[in-house]
Amino acid sequence: MSSDLTSANTMTGPASTSLELGDIQRGVLHHRPSPYVGTYLLLRIDNREAGQKLVRRLCPVIESAQSSSDPAQNASISVGFTYQGLRALGVPQDSLASFAPEFRQGMAARAAELGDVGDSSPGHWEKPLGSPEVHVALSVLSPDTTQLEILLDRARRAHEELTGVQVIWRQDCYQLPTGRTSFGFKDGIGQPAVEGSGIPGTNPEEQPIKAGEFILGYPDETGSVGPMPAPEVLGRNGTYLVFRKLHTRVAAYRQYLRAKAASREEEALLGAKMVGRWQSGAPLALCPERDDPGLGAHPDRNNHFSYGDDLRGFKCPAGAHARRANPRDALDHEMTVNVRLHRMLRRGTSYGPILPYGVLEDDGADRGIIFVFVGAHPKRQFEFVKTQWLNDGIFIGAPAEKDPLAGANDGTGTFTIPQRPIRRRLQSLPPFVITRGGEYCFAPGLRALRWLAELDTQNG
Ligand code: HEM
Repeated sequence: MSSDLTSANTMTGPASTSLELGDIQRGVLHHRPSPYVGTYLLLRIDNREAGQKLVRRLCPVIESAQSSSDPAQNASISVGFTYQGLRALGVPQDSLASFAPEFRQGMAARAAELGDVGDSSPGHWEKPLGSPEVHVALSVLSPDTTQLEILLDRARRAHEELTGVQVIWRQDCYQLPTGRTSFGFKDGIGQPAVEGSGIPGTNPEEQPIKAGEFILGYPDETGSVGPMPAPEVLGRNGTYLVFRKLHTRVAAYRQYLRAKAASREEEALLGAKMVGRWQSGAPLALCPERDDPGLGAHPDRNNHFSYGDDLRGFKCPAGAHARRANPRDALDHEMTVNVRLHRMLRRGTSYGPILPYGVLEDDGADRGIIFVFVGAHPKRQFEFVKTQWLNDGIFIGAPAEKDPLAGANDGTGTFTIPQRPIRRRLQSLPPFVITRGGEYCFAPGLRALRWLAELDTQNG
């Protein structure tokens, strides 16, 4: 380990892993400020030398996870590279070949597998998303617009006057003070703890997850160190990012609930059954009958639950979005699936104007979520959850049912709400979420970033 890297061995007892926090990008491990404003930039590298100059200029701007500045108070920049981006920087072929196959293919090539069909298919994606032109992804997040502008200016200085590097896409984003996103639900509550990071997770009942599930180069939940891109200096302390621009059809969603419910109260209940939480964030597992906004707002309590006493889903349906995405002990009971192999850090944000409360007509605005996944195993984490748990119902005994909110529905799907004396089944679920595009990225550690910046001198 080089001398400028210090490690942390924290929180999680004697078996915990020493993480090289000084070499891991801050945005990978730390929670964001709340609320925040932010901007995503995508860049294309037309000329290798200019690309490396860009990386050199970015090196001092990207903070590490051990930075002394308070992540809740300060703005930060994160960087990721697509497969095409690494190629454009001149990463040698044998190294490129050592990256995860789905990363090498790119998201557009994974569309059918991921359920990105119909209106969500790559042919309809916003340009340049999903195209080989996307090389570098920058995200800048800040608690206020002043700091955001300062950091954006630093990012601008990293790429301006570099004729071989072009900004090809910009997307502003934000988190509301309530934490609510376009459908009205508080989001970003459920987060696992990464062993050795010193950053607590949000569910006290979930033991920290092995660092190798999220950071390359460390033992993971299988007990061994997973595949890591070569050479080690490039792979170690890096991770994979998945970003997806997901347009939300909020008016269609509200109209659907209005048509299925006899009252506003029932509307709220059906909406909560689809998500697994009330709009306030309060989990159905703890308050199945009515919303409890105090609970929803309470960070120590709003994720402190399991499903073991509700295996049949009378409180929270097995098909609800959050329960599908993290079934917790409901699946561990069957001992067939190890839920800990399918966890993810989520760094999603909102974009576009909120549709005013109560409005049922579509105003034509583009709004939704920039979904961001962080994990060392994009296939068995992001892709598994998306394909096996959100887009398929075999694991809950309802093969034909997809996630009612975020699943790839096509107007024919159903959603079962267990209740006594007879279950309720919502019919003809339309798609409420449309994929506008996205990409798989690799977020290198800081040492790897310097390696990428100097690549030409090393490889001649
Ligand atoms: C526009 C699309 C989506 C919306 C509106 C949405 C919304 C939500 C909401 C409201 C929650 C509950 C709050 C929380 O627990 O943090 C949640 C939880 C979650 N979602 Fe999504 N989501 C979307 C897409 C996805 C996708 C594509 C995935 C994964 C492939 C995903 C994975 C998760 C996970 C892992 C949780 C936490 C579950 C838990 O730990 O209990 N979501 N989402």
